[in-house]
Amino acid sequence: MAKMYINPNVKLGHINKEIYGNFSEHLGRCIYEGLYVGETSDIPNLNGMRTDVVTALREMGLAVLRWPGGCFADEYHWRDGIGEKETRKRMINTHWGGVVEDNSFGTHEFMELCRQIGCEPYINGNLGSGTVQEMSEWVEYLTFDGVSPMAELRKKNGDEAAWNVKYFGVGNESWGCGGNMTPEHYANEYRRYQTFCRNYGDNKIYKIACGPNVDDYNWMDVVMRIAGHHMHGISLHYYTLPTGNWSDKGNSLIFTDKEWYETLKRTLYMEELITNHDHIMSKYDKEKKVGLIVDEWGTWYNVEPGTNPGFLYQQSTMRDALVAGINLNIFNKHCDRVKMANIAQLVNVLQSVILTEGAKMVLTPTYHVFHMYQAHQDAELVDSHIDTEMIGAEDNNQVPNLHESVSVGKDGKLHITISNLSAASAYSVEGLIADTKILTVNGSIVTGTIDAHNTFDEPETVNRIAFTDFTVTDKGIDFTIPACSVLHLEAEIA
Ligand code: AHR
Repeated sequence: MAKMYINPNVKLGHINKEIYGNFSEHLGRCIYEGLYVGETSDIPNLNGMRTDVVTALREMGLAVLRWPGGCFADEYHWRDGIGEKETRKRMINTHWGGVVEDNSFGTHEFMELCRQIGCEPYINGNLGSGTVQEMSEWVEYLTFDGVSPMAELRKKNGDEAAWNVKYFGVGNESWGCGGNMTPEHYANEYRRYQTFCRNYGDNKIYKIACGPNVDDYNWMDVVMRIAGHHMHGISLHYYTLPTGNWSDKGNSLIFTDKEWYETLKRTLYMEELITNHDHIMSKYDKEKKVGLIVDEWGTWYNVEPGTNPGFLYQQSTMRDALVAGINLNIFNKHCDRVKMANIAQLVNVLQSVILTEGAKMVLTPTYHVFHMYQAHQDAELVDSHIDTEMIGAEDNNQVPNLHESVSVGKDGKLHITISNLSAASAYSVEGLIADTKILTVNGSIVTGTIDAHNTFDEPETVNRIAFTDFTVTDKGIDFTIPACSVLHLEAEIA
């Protein structure tokens, strides 16, 4: 029996609700069709936003949404997306799929979407091909409530009151699609652009610099050294590719046990990345004032056969549920440094929480993990440890069998989230909870075969179901976690 040790009295940090964020880019069918169908659509909508999708996202507790990219952000000129829709510029989305972008979803629509979902907006500005003035005026347009040309323009376009926009990104992947810059060049550009992203009234901008790709530790070091004092957060991008090979990333639905473990091993690499980047950041910011913002993470497979390669449409299985559970546990455990995370992407793109087809909508296994984990939002991380054994299909691809994080939630309850990484074996766990009386326990679980997934014809194959295979003991909670599952135990404690 594996022992799990929890000490609810040892609080290790605050888990920002923004760790439970997502990302929506003008890419494929994420914005158009997935979120926004327009006021005249037959698909039920409120001000153009799909009612089914918005309702599901509210229920999932989506905390923050990043927009408009991604690579698209550094080609996006915000003025193209305001004013009368008929006169908005039509253009080709050169980055993603070569389709027509009619700019019918712009600033006002994004803010309306966030209002309906009840999430924080996170806007990513254009440093790659936009000017300092353009970025500065976007912030003014969004947040200035006094008399100014941008405030007047916003009012003319239908929104009298300024919005609260806290999170603002200054460039995206500036080492690549955002301008192919060196870290020195970017850091200096960042310092210049951010100077003109002003705070108006009570609105305080949390400025997010473009951070490294994966293990580019030099980028982190240089940008922190040159610009660390001018930022509140710095991003990190890391995608899980089952094969590690960009030219053949593997299939989302058909994979072997070997690929299962390889995917999970590559997911666990997030732990090492965060630890190493945190150390570098601490050279310049010992007090951990600058947040690490993991604003792109998740699985990336070959696109589904027959779909536009530029649309990045992929299906999602229990493997993705495990990838989500593990990453979210890692972010929770690093909540002293990780202040936000945004899985890529929200609907119909990469590791989506929702897929749509016309008027139909399906929730993916990843959706159900986010739904369960919302209990950790704005909770206090507590000390936990689990004894694990290494498992896997090959000697050089071993992973721990179990992976956990634990918090005391805003509701005062203990929330244990634990994943079983084994494709085939269940494990019994003796949960030892120090100095705490367990009053009641509720469990829910997402489980299935490794390739179990939901389709438009069978949307309920993977769901959150009640979990009752536990016993409350005088020392804590004992339970058996089935193979390939993500479990949430919620305990009332005294
Ligand atoms: O999420 C898809 C793309 O991945 C984003 O546009 C870009 O930032 C990253 O390379």
